[in-house]
Amino acid sequence: MAPTLKLNSGYEMPQVGFGLWKVDQATAADTVYNAIKAGYRLFDGACDYGNEKECGEGVARAIKEGLVKREELFIVSKLWQTFHDEDKVEPITRKQLADWQIDYFDLFLIHFPAALEYVDPKVRYPPGWFYDGESEVRWSKTTLQQTWGAMEKLVEKKLARSIGISNYQAQSVYDALIYAKIRPATLQIEHHPYLQQPDLVNLAQKEGIVVTAYSSFGPTGFMELDMPRAKSAAPLMEHALIKEIAAKHKKTPAQVLLRWATQRGLAVIPKTSRPEVLAQNLDSTTFDLESSDLEKIAEMDLNIRFNKPTNYFSADKLFLFG
Ligand SMILES: NC(=O)c1ccc[n+]([C@@H]2O[C@H](COP(=O)([O-])OP(=O)(O)OC[C@H]3O[C@@H](n4cnc5c(N)ncnc54)[C@H](OP(=O)(O)O)[C@@H]3O)[C@@H](O)[C@H]2O)c1
Repeated sequence: MAPTLKLNSGYEMPQVGFGLWKVDQATAADTVYNAIKAGYRLFDGACDYGNEKECGEGVARAIKEGLVKREELFIVSKLWQTFHDEDKVEPITRKQLADWQIDYFDLFLIHFPAALEYVDPKVRYPPGWFYDGESEVRWSKTTLQQTWGAMEKLVEKKLARSIGISNYQAQSVYDALIYAKIRPATLQIEHHPYLQQPDLVNLAQKEGIVVTAYSSFGPTGFMELDMPRAKSAAPLMEHALIKEIAAKHKKTPAQVLLRWATQRGLAVIPKTSRPEVLAQNLDSTTFDLESSDLEKIAEMDLNIRFNKPTNYFSADKLFLFG
């Protein structure tokens, strides 16, 4: 079982969890069930991953068979951009909870700091980035402050125990800290040796916000999407320094990449479709890197971001990380 981190909401969050992006519907229920069996307690889902119903089936099966109790799990989900309008937040959260067959999320995040015009789930679900499902971007006039107010109501109504943010950069974090009545418990960001974002991590940690690293393996997670930027980057797991550190500690390169984050106080949520890899990723907090290892990895920062809309779409309108 993974160690836990204490959130500013008072709840404990497992430091290593399982990421559910790109887990297809056909295998999601078994994947979640097997991950629970392997000892995972945190699951990182989202409306956008299109598999919440199936993930919920995996959870329900594990609970029914007595493998785990609901309160031992830490289920994370996210608010998609088309549901940022204040009156849309609670209804979509209730739908997502129903999909998961649970009555509260342990943590609910604003997925991206961008509000898009509402798309009725009856029209298309998950709605994706484009109003017409193809290329048209329609912004909503709702501010992040208004959406955060609606997220705070989820806590009041006990639909979410903790709330947080994802893909925010420093300016929007500073802004959120001014208007938040409930401070964000976590900030989930892309974080690996090629994109370290030290100022953002420092800001969050100094403000008592736990940082969750996503895409810890850098380009590897984006290969299955055929992303040119990922294909042209050297795989982190084959990087000479990472391999050298792994050999020294008798660990795998993947475990080194995860430990690099957890040893610095971050949480991680690796995804794998291979049952035999589940244990390896979960068992990545039982050794320590040397400070010289951490210093050398710090020098690998290239500031390469894989997960940004302009890497996916030819659309020239979603400059979220500009
Ligand atoms: N908030 C956001 O906007 C956001 C964005 C991206 C991701 N996330 C979250 O973060 C999670 C993880 O990120 P990610 O899915 O981008 O990728 P990741 O966990 O960094 O990488 C997954 C890739 O690494 C491979 N892999 C996993 N463990 C391995 C190991 N021990 N040895 C060798 N290869 C290994 C997997 O292949 P196999 O499947 O074949 O093992 C897969 O191709 C997501 O699932 C999602 O929950 C959030």
